[in-house]
Amino acid sequence: MKNIKNMAIKIQSTNYEIEIGSILTSSFYDLITNRYQNRKKIIMVDENTHDCCLEFLITTYDSLSEAEVILIPEGEENKVMEVCLQIWSALSEFNISRRDLVINLGGGIITDMGGVIASLYKRGVNFVNIPTSLLAMVDASVGGKTGVNLDHFKNQLGVFSNPIAVFVDPSFLSTLPLSEVKNGFAEMLKHGLIADKNHWDVLKCMLPSEDIFGEKIISESILIKNQIVLSDEKEKNERKKLNFGHTVGHAIETYFMSSENTIKHGHAVAIGMLAESYLSNYKKLLSDNELKEIETTICQHFEIPDLAQVDSNVLFEIMSNDKKNFDSKIQCTLLKEIGVSLIHQEISFVEVNLSLEYLKSLKH
Ligand code: GLY
Repeated sequence: MKNIKNMAIKIQSTNYEIEIGSILTSSFYDLITNRYQNRKKIIMVDENTHDCCLEFLITTYDSLSEAEVILIPEGEENKVMEVCLQIWSALSEFNISRRDLVINLGGGIITDMGGVIASLYKRGVNFVNIPTSLLAMVDASVGGKTGVNLDHFKNQLGVFSNPIAVFVDPSFLSTLPLSEVKNGFAEMLKHGLIADKNHWDVLKCMLPSEDIFGEKIISESILIKNQIVLSDEKEKNERKKLNFGHTVGHAIETYFMSSENTIKHGHAVAIGMLAESYLSNYKKLLSDNELKEIETTICQHFEIPDLAQVDSNVLFEIMSNDKKNFDSKIQCTLLKEIGVSLIHQEISFVEVNLSLEYLKSLKH
């Protein structure tokens, strides 16, 4: 990792670079002005980045002044193929060719969905990610996963497809609401728990409501994810560590998706990490002290949802459909200790139930 004064921090990923710092000092200008000179640019935005970030980009960079802007409506319910189909039709109308460039400017939904749209259109148009939420900066925009939802299954459709560059500019976070900061904070905590106790030790003392998430802490979190991705790009083994908290978390997120009390992804992952830390302790992997430390830290920032009416059979059924399973067995990542995780840990219906009871016991 290089840190040159006033220059973006650069992290080399598989076949692209992640640049962290002001976009003004990054190679973005060179990319759009020289490499994509005379090529069309398409900027994908949601309502929020349309209002808060787009103007800055198109007024700063002359070569974006004529870019086509595509507004993707917010919300998981719009992260679906039906919306992609409309956008592909628009790209055809704009006469976009394979040599043009898609710029994904937004949170995880934009980078996941923009990745699908760019990767399948004419068998692949190059794209860059400019994540504007903490979650997208530390997780969704790096690692090459793209995805859209199908029925009530999150990211059921998608391809592994890398952007040609990722530009992470923490100044986009200045207008982010606290709930969104926490959404990304949960994934950062996860990076510490699965692979780097030092990162966890720094984060556990941070307050998402007060502390600034700057280049240093963001790049440390991205570095952990990137190292895991480099060792197993297509998630055959090592990358499954990044799924810690997601087996129970995804199921809870999906369960609440059809209700009025939807839960943000990061919040669900935080709750999932509690459940899976409990299971790690139950299976005599994680010590009582470390479970307590995780519990104290997560409960300080994330409220336990009301799980009293949750039907564990339904949760178990959702988990059974998880992409991460093998041989119809529910497999998840558990913790051996803080900073050390174990993949391919089987969990049973009884254990899922026990983890739910544990979560309920934490609700005051
Ligand atoms: N978000 C988990 C991964 O990229 O593998």
